[in-house]
Amino acid sequence: MQFARFPKQDNATYPTGTMSNTIILPNANAPTLATIDPHLDIEAEIKRLRREKNAVILAHYYQEGEIQDLADFVGDSLDLSRKAAATDADMIVFSGVRFMAEVAKILSPDKIVVIPDAEAGCSLEDSCQAEAFKAWRDAHPDHISLTYINCSAEVKALSDVIVTSSSAEYIINNLPKDQPILFAPDRHLGAYLQRKTGRDMVLWPGTCIVHEQFSAREITRLKSQHPGALVAAHPECPESILEVSDHVGSTSQILNFVHTNPANEFIVATELHIIHQMQKDSPNKTFLAAPGADGGCNCASCPYMALNTMEKLYLAMVNEAPAITMTEDLRLRALKPLERMLELAPAAKPTQDAA
Ligand code: 13P
Ligand code: SF4
Repeated sequence: MQFARFPKQDNATYPTGTMSNTIILPNANAPTLATIDPHLDIEAEIKRLRREKNAVILAHYYQEGEIQDLADFVGDSLDLSRKAAATDADMIVFSGVRFMAEVAKILSPDKIVVIPDAEAGCSLEDSCQAEAFKAWRDAHPDHISLTYINCSAEVKALSDVIVTSSSAEYIINNLPKDQPILFAPDRHLGAYLQRKTGRDMVLWPGTCIVHEQFSAREITRLKSQHPGALVAAHPECPESILEVSDHVGSTSQILNFVHTNPANEFIVATELHIIHQMQKDSPNKTFLAAPGADGGCNCASCPYMALNTMEKLYLAMVNEAPAITMTEDLRLRALKPLERMLELAPAAKPTQDAA
């Protein structure tokens, strides 16, 4: 199959962020959304392709419910990294955002790794370009650099250890007490980790456009209307949100909290599609998406994650593109700090399988 390397398609529009140079797009003659037969049973076709191509479908909790239900594994960034490393499939279909699919490729270089939409980036990744990051590191030569997994392969390659929201605290607590630390790119997660570990860290000023929009005032107002409700928040939220929260954790930690806690109502301060898994796990509980500043916006939906659809997932499997690619030199340099995370992070939690 012929591939056209990005940037290539004349009519393509990439409205936000900086496209990674690690994406190969379908060639000009490949099937597109416009050429899909409207009578096609997309779900059945995806299942057929999964069998025929020996593919595994990984989905992040922020994907739409239909994709989560179809996936072989649904998980948080750390779970999915581990799954990607362990699978013996020939093709990994990564329904999440680009940096997650890059991690799969870094860990599984001999597999085809595809993503439904090449534009599915992340505001944290966009905030932290490799050149500026390198200058920041060079200005702090005595610091170890811990970098949140929400970053490009290039930034990973310039980092000492990669962390996720579920592994960061553990890894920081195991660093020598006198070791100065740089933390990038999420300043809210970094500040939360400083408060939790008591370590002073130099923080990169990036933020998540989703978690930044919740309003502490509106959450408090919602809580007063639902007095029994507990608030569960992701540590990418600003401190003002975490202060009004009953639980702070990664996506899988939040899921575990709402499932095991005896309360019946929860306000969820993270991307709203996670509520799909919550409802599946605890059908008798009520989950309310945390509101933003105007109280009624749909701001808890990640616009990058929302680019992925069943149709695009199907096309990615047919076309074997958009596919992740990178030079072996970059891959090996990015692999090192990822392997450090996988070595340093606590033993794997049970991964939640889809239906
Ligand atoms: P988790 O690592 O908790 O799954 O979070 C990933 C993410 O992108 C949060 O916005
Ligand atoms: Fe990135 Fe935020 Fe979307 Fe997560 S929710 S992928 S951090 S933009």
